Amino acid sequence: MAETYSVGIDPKLLEKREGEQWTDKYPGLGKEKLSYLSMTSPEFFELEREAVFRRSWLYAGRLEWVEEPGQFFTKEYEVCNASIIVVRAQDKKLRAFYNVCPHRGNKLVWKDDPTAEMQGTCDRFYCKYHGLGFGTDGKIEVLTDRKSWFFDQGKELQLAEVPIESWNGFLFVNLSPEGPAESLREFLGEYYWNGFDWPFERFTERFVAQGSTKCNWKGLMDAFNEVYHGVYVHKEAFPYLLKMELTEEALEAMHVKMQVLVGKHGFYVSPRNPQGLFVTDIERIAQCAGTGPQYPMVEDHSKIPPAANPQNRDDWGTSSHFIFPNIMIQFYYPGWYLIYQYWPLAHNEMRFEIDCHYLPSRNFSELMSHFGHCATFWDAALQDVNNLEATQRGLEMGAFSEWPLTDQEMLIRGFHKQIYDHVERYKASLRQKASE
Ligand code: FES
Ligand SMILES: [Fe+2]
Repeated sequence: MAETYSVGIDPKLLEKREGEQWTDKYPGLGKEKLSYLSMTSPEFFELEREAVFRRSWLYAGRLEWVEEPGQFFTKEYEVCNASIIVVRAQDKKLRAFYNVCPHRGNKLVWKDDPTAEMQGTCDRFYCKYHGLGFGTDGKIEVLTDRKSWFFDQGKELQLAEVPIESWNGFLFVNLSPEGPAESLREFLGEYYWNGFDWPFERFTERFVAQGSTKCNWKGLMDAFNEVYHGVYVHKEAFPYLLKMELTEEALEAMHVKMQVLVGKHGFYVSPRNPQGLFVTDIERIAQCAGTGPQYPMVEDHSKIPPAANPQNRDDWGTSSHFIFPNIMIQFYYPGWYLIYQYWPLAHNEMRFEIDCHYLPSRNFSELMSHFGHCATFWDAALQDVNNLEATQRGLEMGAFSEWPLTDQEMLIRGFHKQIYDHVERYKASLRQKASE
C-alpha cells in the first residue's frame, strides 16, 4: 500500500477496523436521533443566514475565469442579500466588491435581468442609473454632473471591497460584517490547504446546469453525502442498476469505502462501478455507466490530489468533498471533476448548480462523450431534486421531529451538527452582546 496522506488529521480516521463503525471515531458526534428542525423552521433559517453564510468563506468561482486584466464575473448570494463582482483589476490584483453603486445604490453590473449572474471584460464599470464610472480598483474614474456634488463626496466615491482568497484556483469571498474571523487557510484546515494540488485550471470544458427546487438546501447536500440511495432513486438514469440483484452483499459493495470528517468539512471515497455495463444507447455514446465517461478520456487523470485519495487506493470511483457550508467538489474516475453549489433561498427553497469540468475535447466524439455524460448525469440529479421535494413535504408534515441516521449517514450527521453548533455559537454571541 502506498503512503497514506494524513497531514492535519489523525491517520486512524482514514481506516475502519473490523467491527468498528465510522461514527465511533468521533465521540462527540453521538448516535442519537438528530432533530430536523433545521430543515423546516423559517426562524432557524434566519439564524442560519447570519451564523453560517454571513460568517463563512463562500465559494465564488474559478481563478481561470479572471486571469486577464479587466476580466470579471458576478456572483449572486441571495442568502446574504448580496451580489459580488470578482475582477482581475488593471493592476493585475484580484479584487472583489459588493455589486452596488455608492451613489444611490443601484446594482452596478448586470445585463437585462438584474437578478442574473454575468461575466465579461471591461476597463471600468459604468452605473446604468446616472453614468458614474468605477475603475477595476473600485475607485471613481468618471464623475458625471461634476459641479453638483457637495464637498468631496463625488470624487471620494468608491466601491465597497470584500475579502477574496484562492485555494488551488477555487475563489472564496467572506461577507462577515466584522471581517473574516479566520483566513481561508484556517477555515479549510491544513489537510485541505496542503493536499489539493491538481491541474484544475486545465479542466476548462464546462457544462453547467442550474435550477431551483422546493426543499431545504441541506436536503440536497445530504443526498450527495451518501451514495447508497443510488440503487433506489437512480435506477432509471443508470439502467444497469436495474439488472443488479439487491442482495445484502451487493448493497454492502455500494457503500462508501471511506468517510472522514475533517473539521467543518468532510469527504467520502466510493468504489468504482463495474466496467462494461452499458445498457442504453445514451450510455454507450456517453461511455458512461453511473459515474461518467470512462473511455476514451482525453488524458488519464486518475491520480487525484492526495487529500482526495489519502490511501492511494486504485479502486476509487468517486471522491466527494463537502466544503462547509455549501459546496461539494467531486472527482470521478478516471479524471474529471465537478462542483455542486447548494444556495438557500428560503427554509424550504433552494437554488442548485452543477458545474462539470473536463479537459477540452480534441474532437467531436469526445465532445459528444462529455455532453452525453452530462445529459445522463443531470437526469440523475433531477431525480434527486424531485425526490427531495417529496422529502421536504414529508418533513413538514410534522409527524416526526427527529431522524435516526445510520453509519452510512455519518457525514450527514457531522454536517448537521456543524450547522447546529454554528447557530448555537451565534446565539451565544448575541446574548453576550446584549448583556454588555
Ligand atoms: S446610482 Fe449609480 S450613478 Fe447614481
Ligand atoms: Fe442521488
